[in-house]
Amino acid sequence: MHRYTVGIGVGVLAIVCFWVGWGKTQEKRDGQDRLNGFMQLKLDHAKGILEGLSNEDFNAISQNAQGLATLSLESSWNAYTTPEYLALSTDFRRAVRMMTEAASEKNLDRAALAYVNTTVQCIECHRYMRHAKR
Ligand code: HEC
Repeated sequence: MHRYTVGIGVGVLAIVCFWVGWGKTQEKRDGQDRLNGFMQLKLDHAKGILEGLSNEDFNAISQNAQGLATLSLESSWNAYTTPEYLALSTDFRRAVRMMTEAASEKNLDRAALAYVNTTVQCIECHRYMRHAKR
């Protein structure tokens, strides 16, 4: 009888541990999904800018550049807080600002250059993250 009770106790404990552990993993995964969803928006704006450049639609360029600028100021952006990451973020914002200016000047060449510059910043920051620790 005593052994039986211990058996049930261990069984219940195992189920609770499994449950709590699973919950934690889910929480972590949800957080990562949310972050990736947020980050994914950058790609939508980048595509919107390319479309705007191709159609000489300065309004689209401006709106999507503004979208990128806004994202870069949200707290989710700062997934890393190293000085390098902050410097890369500053370079990114500068490139985006150049794009906004170019769009308001209706200067297609400058906007295209700013787009290339922005894209380089996307690649550079992602390259940094592949090698960095948070
Ligand atoms: C200053 C740093 C930085 C810059 C610049 C940057 N990103 Fe990111 N990006 C991140 C971080 C941080 C993540 C999240 C990585 C992770 O999962 O830990 C991310 C993730 C992403 C993801 C999601 C990947 C996935 O797994 O779903 C996409 C898409 C993306 N970025 C696109 C872009 C595009 C497009 C640009 C340029 C317009 C850009 N990023 C510029 C830091 C940056």
